[in-house]
Amino acid sequence: MSKMKQTILITGGSSGIGLAIAKKFIENNYNVVVTGRNLDKLEKVKYDLPSIHIEQSDVCNEDDVKKLVLKMEQNFGGIDILFNNAGIMNLIDAGSEDNQLNKQFTEIEINFHAPIRMLHYFLPQLKKSKNAVVVNVSSGLAYVPFAQAPTYSGTKAALHFWTMGIRPQLKPHNIKVVELLPPVVDTPIFDGIDVKEDDNLKPMPPEKLANLFWKDFINGREEIAPGLSKQLKLMSRLAPKFIFKQLNKQPIPSKRT
Ligand SMILES: NC(=O)c1ccc[n+]([C@@H]2O[C@H](COP(=O)([O-])OP(=O)(O)OC[C@H]3O[C@@H](n4cnc5c(N)ncnc54)[C@H](OP(=O)(O)O)[C@@H]3O)[C@@H](O)[C@H]2O)c1
Repeated sequence: MSKMKQTILITGGSSGIGLAIAKKFIENNYNVVVTGRNLDKLEKVKYDLPSIHIEQSDVCNEDDVKKLVLKMEQNFGGIDILFNNAGIMNLIDAGSEDNQLNKQFTEIEINFHAPIRMLHYFLPQLKKSKNAVVVNVSSGLAYVPFAQAPTYSGTKAALHFWTMGIRPQLKPHNIKVVELLPPVVDTPIFDGIDVKEDDNLKPMPPEKLANLFWKDFINGREEIAPGLSKQLKLMSRLAPKFIFKQLNKQPIPSKRT
């Protein structure tokens, strides 16, 4: 396979933000590989987008990740962009004894441990690339926590800080580190969450987010915080208590995920 064409690996690209971003990179002539756990979802994506490459792979499964590294080497001569996107969000009431401890630990594993694992195993391939980039998808909630999803908010704040920390470390290896902090986006992750009724938190279509990301990405921006996320960043500095209260008028979820 020729290295003239750049290769991007997007974890969790079978729906939502990952899929919209995948389409953007396909339009721009990249080899695009998307992963996910559910093969039916991936096969549906492949049916709709024949040029995409799909791999069933769980970011939490060490063996899956090692196999993926080998496949990327064999099929594409390695990857150029690692797009850490896979994520889940649980609505949790920490004040209830029935607070789904194992689900919260899985959430931490997918949202925070997995990007660290992915970078660890893909580092040799990224070091070989002339245009290496790691993109971590955190959230506007890395700036201001959403109380209904406290563990989720914690994972995204952790990812945000990890991203800032690895950026200067990877620079000498010519690996650029970019963070995408999406606002509320209309994807399956937000199905059934009450904030959809709040006008200030109106979800953005994933295609719009992908367009905004692309514009900033090609301009070399390192921290991409579209729409509401930009406001959350500003307000978290100017009036942190006020913005926390605004976002958390209903701190206890009416139902759990
Ligand atoms: N939507 C929003 O409002 C919003 C806002 C801020 C940040 N984000 C972040 O954006 C990212 C994408 O979320 P989304 O909104 O696009 O949600 P989504 O449509 O539910 O997409 C999540 C993707 O991750 C995959 N996934 C989940 N667990 C995985 C695992 N263990 N291994 C591999 N793939 C896995 C899912 O496929 P399978 O289930 O088949 O594995 C799916 O393809 C997440 O990191 C999320 O936290 C979303």
